[in-house]
Amino acid sequence: MIIGVPKEVKDHESRVGITPAGVKALSEAGHKVLVETHAGELSAFTDDDYQSAGAEIVGSAHNVWGLADMVVKVKEPVEKEYGFFREGLVLFTYLHLAPLPVLTDKLLTKKVTGIAYETIRDRQGTLPLLTPMSEVAGRMSVQVGASYLEKERGGRGVLLGGVPGVPPAKVCIIGGGIVGTNAAKVALGMGARVKIVDLNLNRLRELDDIFNGRLITVASNSYNVARATAESDLVIGGVLIPGAAAPKIVTKPMVAGMKKGAVIVDVAIDQGGCIETARPTTHSDPSYEVDGVVHYCVTNMPAAVPNTSTLALTNATFPYVFRLAREGAKAAILGDDGIREGVNTYNGKLTYNAVAQSQSKPWRAIRELLA
Ligand SMILES: NC(=O)c1ccc[n+]([C@@H]2O[C@H](COP(=O)([O-])OP(=O)(O)OC[C@H]3O[C@@H](n4cnc5c(N)ncnc54)[C@H](O)[C@@H]3O)[C@@H](O)[C@H]2O)c1
Repeated sequence: MIIGVPKEVKDHESRVGITPAGVKALSEAGHKVLVETHAGELSAFTDDDYQSAGAEIVGSAHNVWGLADMVVKVKEPVEKEYGFFREGLVLFTYLHLAPLPVLTDKLLTKKVTGIAYETIRDRQGTLPLLTPMSEVAGRMSVQVGASYLEKERGGRGVLLGGVPGVPPAKVCIIGGGIVGTNAAKVALGMGARVKIVDLNLNRLRELDDIFNGRLITVASNSYNVARATAESDLVIGGVLIPGAAAPKIVTKPMVAGMKKGAVIVDVAIDQGGCIETARPTTHSDPSYEVDGVVHYCVTNMPAAVPNTSTLALTNATFPYVFRLAREGAKAAILGDDGIREGVNTYNGKLTYNAVAQSQSKPWRAIRELLA
């Protein structure tokens, strides 16, 4: 198979779809990999790294898209990439089609096989290609929060771990899933006192076991959340209700009741945020203040650490890339339940129910289309 890796063009996107390690494995298996010039540069992979691993460096996006059987990307295509779509092309990337009817229509009219990272499921029913980015954002949230707690950046001037004779900072994490657990690891590692709030009591039991009592688990209700946020120096939002907008767990009055110079990092902002005063921000203008509380609500936090994020993402995506290349898209879709769940568009038909519902469009199950 010929596999194309274009340079990402979406604003502030610095990751890349395949690393030199992936190129080496694909080349050794007899596939040809075309990598656009400078595609990996922002993730610290040079054209030389790719070439040494067996890739052919191609000067223009037009040629990468035009010659490849399968294009492997990170973010959904933006408008200037729509012209590259053609019948039979396999596109493997985050697609997030639900709010993007124009992109959906282009994929359908051009009969592109669109396989979305975010809807692939593993045998446990989890979303394995979303997990690595939650791990990155969860760990980053504490680093970012610690930095904003410094006086120069508008914070209370508190050191997360304290020092002998001075107590450490208090961190409250709302949501004990992937983001929350990874935030807790880093916060505890830096010496903070950590509370973690979740609605799911079984999850709180697991967290109590995992951390062996080193953090305090708190059942999620407005009384407990108000008390926990009022005493905290850093509040991290990591709540998710799959497929729905995040519920506002921390209300405006709760934010007003927080200490001046405390910091909020709402990681769940990509689903609308679980803190009422949170609004989406970007890496170029990441923070603002409400009631003396610093808010950091960047919707694509992993883009700040593209080398780690690319490696984490491709560790998870590569086994699927390899299978699609080895078997061809149709056989891989038929043979792998997880990949089948990833197919959003196929031969001009919408094949993912949730996307169809959100755009009021008809859909067909991919199994029926391939039968
Ligand atoms: N901003 C970014 O760059 C970025 C990066 C990665 C992930 N995210 C987002 O972070 C959010 C969390 O992702 P995740 O992978 O940790 O999800 P997850 O499903 O692993 O965890 C979510 C947790 O929230 C808990 N929860 C649900 N309702 C609750 C409530 N009312 N009170 C307290 N807890 C509640 C659930 O029980 C679960 O444990 C998602 O919205 C995800 O898209 C953002």
